[in-house]
Amino acid sequence: MFDRLDPRGLLAKPWVYKTFRGLVTTKAGRAGLVEDYLRPRPGDSVLDIGCGTADVLDDLPDVEYYGFDSSEEYIDLARARHGNRGTFVNASVSRDTVTGKFDLVMALGVLHHLNDGDAAELFALASSALKPTGRLVTLDPLFHDGQAAHRRFVVSLDRGGHIRILNEYIELAQRSFQEIESHTRTDLLRIPYTHLILECSP
Ligand SMILES: C[S@@+](CC[C@H](N)C(=O)[O-])C[C@H]1O[C@@H](n2cnc3c(N)ncnc32)[C@H](O)[C@@H]1O
Repeated sequence: MFDRLDPRGLLAKPWVYKTFRGLVTTKAGRAGLVEDYLRPRPGDSVLDIGCGTADVLDDLPDVEYYGFDSSEEYIDLARARHGNRGTFVNASVSRDTVTGKFDLVMALGVLHHLNDGDAAELFALASSALKPTGRLVTLDPLFHDGQAAHRRFVVSLDRGGHIRILNEYIELAQRSFQEIESHTRTDLLRIPYTHLILECSP
């Protein structure tokens, strides 16, 4: 629950979020995410769900990029910053948000902001928007047994209200996907953290 005195509420401001992202991410962490999991090929069609300010474009080759986000402010900044490198749309997750088929669908840092109903909708949207050979990649904070206390503490500070354990993320993904690989990483940020990455195939 956020009130006006909670500094995390400032992250809703796109320039604050961009500054924070710049401070906590590392070049190696961003490159690892792209090379190990996103694996985009030049010319791929890419759907970015909850794209924010679309900063991921800085780390992608030339792709046909379509990003949408429920925050108009974030989308305005994405358009101002990336212009004709993609299509940026102000919309919320729903099966009807997108038509067309994509090689790669990503939802980076989004599921943990969504309740179970909306998260299931995200997986359904991704499943219907993928080409038969396509993949969905998600990235979110994770709680797990045996997690180092300092990592658990920093994860618990995230403003997302739906940080889950592995089985909860997997159960939601299984409603729309047959093949799901999970990867846990603790080295993607400058700060102590635990990420879960899901790679889902139809
Ligand atoms: C942590 S930010 C991640 C932004 C971007 N993917 C990135 O990696 O920098 C989460 C984003 O999800 C968006 N979001 C939250 N709920 C959403 C919804 N129901 N539909 C679309 N976007 C949503 C927020 O506006 C925010 O931009």
